[in-house]
Amino acid sequence: MTNLHKILNKSERLILGVLSGTSVDAVDIVLVKFKGKGENVSLKVLKYKEYAIPSDIRNFVFKVSHKETSIVDDICRLNFILGKFYSNCINKFLKQNGISPDKIDAIGSHGQTIHHLPKAESFYGINYKSTLQIGDPSVIANLTGIITVGDFRTADVAVDGGGAPLVPYLDFVLFRSNDTNRILLNIGGISNLTYLKAKCRFNDVIAFDTGPGNMMIDYLAQKFYSKSYDKDCRISQKGVINYHLFSEIKRKDTFRLKKYPKSTGREFYNKSFVDSIIKNYKSEPKENILRTFTEYTAYSVSENVKRLLKLNNKKFELLVSGGGASNCLIMDGLKKHLPNADVNKVNSGGISTSNKEAVLFALLAHETLNGNSTNLKSVTGAKKNAILGKICLV
Ligand SMILES: Nc1ncnc2c1ncn2[C@@H]1O[C@H](COP(=O)(O)OP(=O)(O)O)[C@@H](O)[C@H]1O
Ligand SMILES: [Mg+2]
Repeated sequence: MTNLHKILNKSERLILGVLSGTSVDAVDIVLVKFKGKGENVSLKVLKYKEYAIPSDIRNFVFKVSHKETSIVDDICRLNFILGKFYSNCINKFLKQNGISPDKIDAIGSHGQTIHHLPKAESFYGINYKSTLQIGDPSVIANLTGIITVGDFRTADVAVDGGGAPLVPYLDFVLFRSNDTNRILLNIGGISNLTYLKAKCRFNDVIAFDTGPGNMMIDYLAQKFYSKSYDKDCRISQKGVINYHLFSEIKRKDTFRLKKYPKSTGREFYNKSFVDSIIKNYKSEPKENILRTFTEYTAYSVSENVKRLLKLNNKKFELLVSGGGASNCLIMDGLKKHLPNADVNKVNSGGISTSNKEAVLFALLAHETLNGNSTNLKSVTGAKKNAILGKICLV
C-alpha cells in the first residue's frame, strides 16, 4: 500500500503503456512521462519498442477468439500465457533501456481482446453488454514488480457503454484545435476515427469504429501466402481491382452503413466473413483478391467519413495512425476518395503512427490513478462517466 500512496500523490509520473491490438502482430511498449492531469495534462514519450508476437501465440489468440474453435480451457491458459509474455517483454524493455523497475510508477496494460459483444442482450432478466480482454494485469504486476492498471473497457461496459473506442480521450486532450476540423484515424486490425471539429468541447467529440482496418488483408496474406501481412503492398500492388468482388464485399459489409455510435471486431470481420465472400472467386488471381480487399478497406473508411461530414466540400485534416498508415494503397485510397482532406501521418510530441495507442493506455492509467473518468459517453453510449481500469498492487 505504501507504494500506491506514494504514486497517488505524485505530480509527475513515469508510466509504461502496453498494448497488443486486434492484429496481434506485436506487443507495443512505450515509456511516457506525465505532468498535470485531465485536460491540462502534458506528456513526453521517452522510449518506444515493439516486441513481435510469435506466430504460435498469435494463432492461439485467433483460435481462442473464434467462437467455432474456442474452448474454455484455452481461454484460461491464454490469460496466463499472455500475462507472462507481456511481463517478459516489459522486463526486457526495462533491461534494454537500463531502467530499474522501481523508477516506474505504474503500467497501463490493455491486454488482448478475445471477444467483444457491444450489442445489448438480456439473460434471466439481466440486461448487459460484454467484452473480454485477457493477459491478466495481476500476473503483470506480480512478475514485473510494478503496480499495473488493466481491463480499461469493463467499467464503461458496466454502465451500458460499448467499451470502445477509448482513444478519443487522448485525441481530445492532445489534438483538439481552435481553427482546424480534424479527424484522427487509427488503422489497426479494425479502423476507428475521432472527429474533433474546430473549437470542439469534450461532449462534442464523435468517434466510432468504421469497420475493417488490416484485419481482412492480414487474413488473406496468411491464407494465400503464409505471410502475417502484405508488407509495403508487395502482393496487392501486383494485382488489379475486381469490381464484381468489390461489390460483393460492399453488399456483405452491413457494418459500414450502421449509424454511430458503433464498434466492431473479429466477431464480424473474421475468416468466416472473408471466406463466405471469396468462395465464388476460386479462379481469381490471389493478388487481385488482396488488392480488392485493400481498396475496399480505404473505401469503407472514406464512406464513413463522408456520411459523418455530410457536406462533402468541408475541409479537414485527416491524421492517420496505426499499422495501416504504412499501407501505401490504403493511404492512396484515402487521398483519392477524400479530396477535401489534408491527409497526414500522426507525428507530434513523440507520438507516432506506431506508438499512439500504447501512449493511450499509459494516459488512461495515469488518469485512473488521478481518479478521473476517461470514457466519453457521447462516444461509447455509456449512461455514466466511469473511472476506467483495475489497479493491481504489488
Ligand atoms: N509496411 C507495412 N505495409 C503494409 N502493412 C503494414 C505495414 N506495417 C504494418 N502494417 C499493417 O499493420 C498491422 C499492425 O497494425 P497495428 O496498428 O499494430 O494494429 P493493432 O493495433 O490491431 O495491433 C499489420 O498486421 C499490417 O497489416
Ligand atoms: Mg499491433
